[in-house]
Amino acid sequence: MSNQAIPPLPSTPHWQALAQHWQAISPLQIRDLFREDPGRFMRFSIEAGPLLLDYSKNRITADTLPLLIALARAAGVPEAIERMFRGERINSTEQRAALHTALRNRSDTPVDVDGEDVMPGVRAVLAKMRQLTEAVHAGEYRGHGGSSITDIVNIGIGGSHLGPLMATRALRPYRKGHMRVHFVSNIDPADLGEVLEQLDPGSTLFIIASKTFTTLETLTNAEAAKRWFFDRIGDPAAVGRHFLAVSTNLEATRRFGIDDDKVFEFWDWAGGRYSLWSAIGLPIALCVGMDRFEQLLAGAHQMDRHFRTAPLERNLPAVLALLSIWYTNFFGAQTHAVVPYDQHLEFLPAYLQQLAMESNGKRVTAAGQVIDYATAPVLWGAPGTNGQHAFFQLLHQGTVFVPVDFMTPLQGHYRIGRQQELLFANCVAQSEALMRGKSEDEVRAELAVAVTPHAIEHLLPHKVFPGNKPSNTLVYERLTPETLGALIALYEHKTFVEGVIWRINSFDQWGVELGKQLASRVASELETQAIGTDHDGSTRGLMNRFIHVRHGDPVPPNSE
Ligand code: F6P
Repeated sequence: MSNQAIPPLPSTPHWQALAQHWQAISPLQIRDLFREDPGRFMRFSIEAGPLLLDYSKNRITADTLPLLIALARAAGVPEAIERMFRGERINSTEQRAALHTALRNRSDTPVDVDGEDVMPGVRAVLAKMRQLTEAVHAGEYRGHGGSSITDIVNIGIGGSHLGPLMATRALRPYRKGHMRVHFVSNIDPADLGEVLEQLDPGSTLFIIASKTFTTLETLTNAEAAKRWFFDRIGDPAAVGRHFLAVSTNLEATRRFGIDDDKVFEFWDWAGGRYSLWSAIGLPIALCVGMDRFEQLLAGAHQMDRHFRTAPLERNLPAVLALLSIWYTNFFGAQTHAVVPYDQHLEFLPAYLQQLAMESNGKRVTAAGQVIDYATAPVLWGAPGTNGQHAFFQLLHQGTVFVPVDFMTPLQGHYRIGRQQELLFANCVAQSEALMRGKSEDEVRAELAVAVTPHAIEHLLPHKVFPGNKPSNTLVYERLTPETLGALIALYEHKTFVEGVIWRINSFDQWGVELGKQLASRVASELETQAIGTDHDGSTRGLMNRFIHVRHGDPVPPNSE
């Protein structure tokens, strides 16, 4: 079928059927649906590997999922899943495969890209990671002057930062020895400066993580770290021992001064935000050991197998994606909150932000047609219970419709009083409160025992909770490396299914380029103090102010 012949998504019969279903369903209250169906929790929950998804607190009936699944089938989701796993070049604007699943393929099955099996290369890099991590942990890999390595500094940004940062935080209870792992990403000199001042160069290993090895922030920080190191050690040969790279660009790593044997290779078919399974995960392996890192891969592989083989109605990533489409495209939700009741998942929302928003924040289809329906909602969140004391007011009583993903362990890593029970209780209570709300009658009855009738009328509107706010809850026994692997792979595949239905290429990110281009021009104009006349008044004004302050000149006042 030519592109011209594909009807716009909102005019397809499956979309239309969902629009009609939405009309029928929107007045329904989830709490009534629970009352009518005692089996709702069992019906609307799925177990896959270590994860249980309870999606019963959603604005759905028994008819909703079949309609969404029909949409997914019509969009070719099952075929697209196969194309991804088979290594087809589904990233059409960059002519690349998207094979993060090969990075964690724990089976003997070969994975071909253009007729060549990528698995021997993947295994060779894992073996090299194992060799290094074991040597570091055994104290055999020594720094300048014979010190053993105590500190790892990962210099990278975006996908070369958020995954390792999130996972090392998540797996902190599995930390091996007392290895300290630091992350530097921002071009803000405070980021690097504050890390460097904690370090002894002789016992520090720097990992320069950049798929392209052209990223301004990473290369600038890496050069500064190298200068800092050289100024203290004074031996150019020591640089080779203390600086490793993870990159696809060997020419650039050589130019930087890192020998090929200190470069951990990865491949253009591993997208940046999908790359923590590759040597980009080296800081994770150095933190928790290679066995644990491989358990992380195994957890993701388990989710991959589930995703590839489970029917769509029992397919956890597909169901999450379809619910997201239900709210984004039919209820008009513009944001989606992720609230882990698990302090170890503190950085998960930030990680998922890149995954979801860089993948699906697109305005044209893979075929280049302008899209006239919503794509990725704004993803945001913070750990519970902290979020309850910050943004939950808006979730409960604000005017914005925000579906929420909750997640929490059944067992923690620490036993301190009743705290695990209280954490779990808060998680479940919040999803119940969002769903159930509090009616006028309930508020009246509650207030009647405490305040005067006049005060009741005054307080009533403020104390009503409309409820009917949907959420998913993911529970798992404990956040082990396997569980974390499965959880991340779940969200990767959810993102992919959404992209297929929205007809977009989830694996490119052209939208980051314009800002980079302009920043490099602005930076050179600031340096030469020659502000281009074609900048707008705001940009010129701000640049002018910067130049004045940096040169200690009096700043012309903006207003009288
Ligand atoms: O600017 C966006 C981006 O290209 C991300 O997609 C990527 O994860 C990040 O920059 C870092 O890129 P690299 O690993 O090539 O330094």
